[in-house]
Amino acid sequence: MVNVILLGPPGAGKGTQAKRLVDGRGMVQLSTGDMLREARSSGTGMGRRVAQVMDRGELVTDDIVIGLIEEKLTHARGAGFIFDGFPRTLPQADALGRLLDKVGQRLDAVIEMQVDDAALVARITGRVTCGVCGAVYHDRTHPTRQPGVCDVCGSTDLRRRADDNEASLRQRLMEYYKKTSPLIGYYYAKGQLTTVDGLAEVEVVAEAVRRVLDKG
Ligand code: AP5
Repeated sequence: MVNVILLGPPGAGKGTQAKRLVDGRGMVQLSTGDMLREARSSGTGMGRRVAQVMDRGELVTDDIVIGLIEEKLTHARGAGFIFDGFPRTLPQADALGRLLDKVGQRLDAVIEMQVDDAALVARITGRVTCGVCGAVYHDRTHPTRQPGVCDVCGSTDLRRRADDNEASLRQRLMEYYKKTSPLIGYYYAKGQLTTVDGLAEVEVVAEAVRRVLDKG
């Protein structure tokens, strides 16, 4: 059982790699972005407030996301957890350490996926996601085999995320550099950080991730 954090800016490929680990190893993907999108589609007052924050490209408050992760950590079962988009602040990182202790687990690795800003803009503005199974595509680099139809589940419900525009992405990048990038030093100091080249082909990145997990 291996528990890993995928750390990187918006569009680094965290979700893409997490889905491969779920399929290949039976690990459990804990994506706070997906959990928050689920909350926003619930239409509750909390969901509406979360939607406004996400669309501006800002971070949702620590107590909300820590609560979401705590709930999943207590109930989900699988061959290890992939933390995708969590933690994103130092208080979230401290909370994750405490939560893992509480459930008798440990963090085995933190993988930083490095991608330069120009590539992130191209990736985010071309991203398309299946509204039914969550498969992720890209207009140019990874289109569906049949236009408008998901390769995995056959759904025609292919969507662009509300926050996948240049203005929101710029804010998301600022949030990343200000609040999330300090985690690189935090985990480096603990001896848990490995950096991979997120600009490489999806399969090459996947191989680098596999090597880290097999060592862990
Ligand atoms: P979240 O959903 O976590 O978004 P994000 O971190 O901005 O990351 P993305 O999902 O945009 O990118 P990704 O790295 O998963 O890339 P992907 O694999 O899809 O968070 C959204 C919002 O929720 C935040 O802004 C915030 O408001 C809130 N939030 C979430 N967590 C929070 C937290 N912990 N605290 C507070 N607020 C929180 O790939 C992108 C594209 O690139 C795809 O089209 C893909 O096909 C393509 N691609 C992937 N890999 C490659 C490759 N190697 N080569 C070429 N193309 C590639």
